[in-house]
Amino acid sequence: MEKLKIAGGYSLKGTIKVSGAKNSAVALIPATILAETPVTIEGLPNISDVGILKTLLEEIGGTVTFEDGEMVVDPTQMVSMPLPNGKVKKLRASYYLMGAMLGRFKKAVIGLPGGCHLGPRPIDQHIKGFEALGAKVTNEQGAIYLRADELHGARIYLDVVSVGATINIMLAAVKAKGKTVIENAAKEPEIIDVATLLTNMGAKIKGAGTDVIRIEGVESLNGCRHTIIPDRIEAGTFMLLGAAAGDGVLIDNVIPHHLESLTAKLREMGVPIEVGDEQIFIGKGEHLKAVDIKTLVYPGFPTDLQQPFTSLLTKAEGTSVVTDTIYSARFKHIDELRRMNANIKVEGRSAIINGPTTLQGAKVKASDLRAGAALVIAGLMAEGITEVTGLEHIDRGYSNLVEKLEGLGATIWREKMTEEEMEQQKSL
Ligand code: EPU
Repeated sequence: MEKLKIAGGYSLKGTIKVSGAKNSAVALIPATILAETPVTIEGLPNISDVGILKTLLEEIGGTVTFEDGEMVVDPTQMVSMPLPNGKVKKLRASYYLMGAMLGRFKKAVIGLPGGCHLGPRPIDQHIKGFEALGAKVTNEQGAIYLRADELHGARIYLDVVSVGATINIMLAAVKAKGKTVIENAAKEPEIIDVATLLTNMGAKIKGAGTDVIRIEGVESLNGCRHTIIPDRIEAGTFMLLGAAAGDGVLIDNVIPHHLESLTAKLREMGVPIEVGDEQIFIGKGEHLKAVDIKTLVYPGFPTDLQQPFTSLLTKAEGTSVVTDTIYSARFKHIDELRRMNANIKVEGRSAIINGPTTLQGAKVKASDLRAGAALVIAGLMAEGITEVTGLEHIDRGYSNLVEKLEGLGATIWREKMTEEEMEQQKSL
C-alpha cells in the first residue's frame, strides 16, 4: 500500500492534459458486450476502474487488449456467466453489466455494486426500467438476478433523474423489440457519449442529452471505433487546483461547454479564466470572494466537484455554503480538511466554510474518490507536508495524477506505507 506526499505552498504553472472520462469509460466498456464483432475504444483513462472492467469482460469470455488508452474488445465468445461476487463489488459501475448482459443474453447475475460511500445509493430506477422491458428481477443474497424470455420496448418514467438508470435502461433497450421511451432521463454528457457508441454500433437512439430518449430496438449490433469524451470532472479538478495553488495553469483537452457551471462560479469568486475551443486557462486566484454552491443534475453544478471546490473555498474571504442535493453524506472530506486548519462545519446537507484560512500540512485520509481530489488540492495549498492515504480511491478515477501534477511543478510523490501505518489505517 502507498501514500501520497505533497510539499505544499508552491505555485503551479504550465499545461495539464485531461484524460478520457471515467464515468463514460465505465459504461462504454460494458456496452461492448452488446456487439457481435470487435469494438475499439480510444482515449480511455489509465485508472483502476477500467482495469477491473477489463478483467470482468475477460471473465465472461471476452478477448480484451488495452494499450496506450486503446481498448479492443472481441465479444464474440462471451457468455452470460454469473458474477455474484468478487471484482463486481469493487466498483459501482459494474451495474452496467446488468443492462448490457440483459440486452445481449436476456439474463444476468450481478453482485450488488460497491463504489464510493456517499450515503444511500439505491438502484431501484434501474430495476424499474428492466422490469418495464419485460425482465424478471430478484435480489438473492446480495446479487441481482435478471431474466427475460423476450425484451420489449416500454415507456419508462424515471422518478429520480439518474445517470446510471438512464444508461442502464438504454443498454438493455437497444436490443428490445419495439420502441422504448425514457422520460425524465438524465442529460449528462456521458449519456450522449454512450448513445454515440451504441449508435455507431447500429442502435437507433434519439434525444440523448435531453430528458426524453427514444430508442427503436434492433436485432443485432456490430463493432466500431469510438473516441471517448474528455473527463469533465478531472478537468474541473484541475481548474480548481489552478485557482487554489496556480500561477497560470492551462488545461488542455476540455469541452468547455461541459464546465459552464464551474466556470461561472469561479468567475464569481474572482478567478481569472480564459476559455478557448478545447482549453481553459486559469490565472492566479488572488483575493477570492466566498460563494455558495448547490449541486444539481447536469447542467447544474456537479456533485462530483463539490468536495474539491470546498478546499478552494478555504482560501476565499467570507462565509461560503456548499449544499449537496444529490448525495446526503458526501462530506467525509470535511473532518480531514479541519485537521489541516480549515474552518468548516457541516449542518445537514450543507458545509459552511469560513475563510480565508492558511491550510497546514497534515496526515489525512481519502474516504472516497472526490474526497481524495479535495485533499490533494488542499495539500498543494497548504504550508508544509501533507500525507494522503486511501490512494486506492484516487486511483479509481484520476489517471497518472502524480506525473500530471509534477508537470506543473508540484512536489508530490508516492511512498510505501510502513507495516505500522497500515495497521493504523485498519483501526481508523
Ligand atoms: N438514485 C435513486 N435510485 C436509483 C438511482 C439513483 O434514488 O435507482 C438517486 C441516488 O441515490 C442519487 C441520485 O439518484 O441521490 C443520483 O444518482 P445517479 O444514479 O445519477 O448516480 P450514479 O449513476 O450512481 C453517477 C456517477 C457519479 C456521480 C453521479 C451524479 C458513474 C459511475 N457515477 O452515479 O460519479 O456522482 O452520477 O452525477 O457514472 C464520481 O465520479 O465520483 C461519482 C460518484
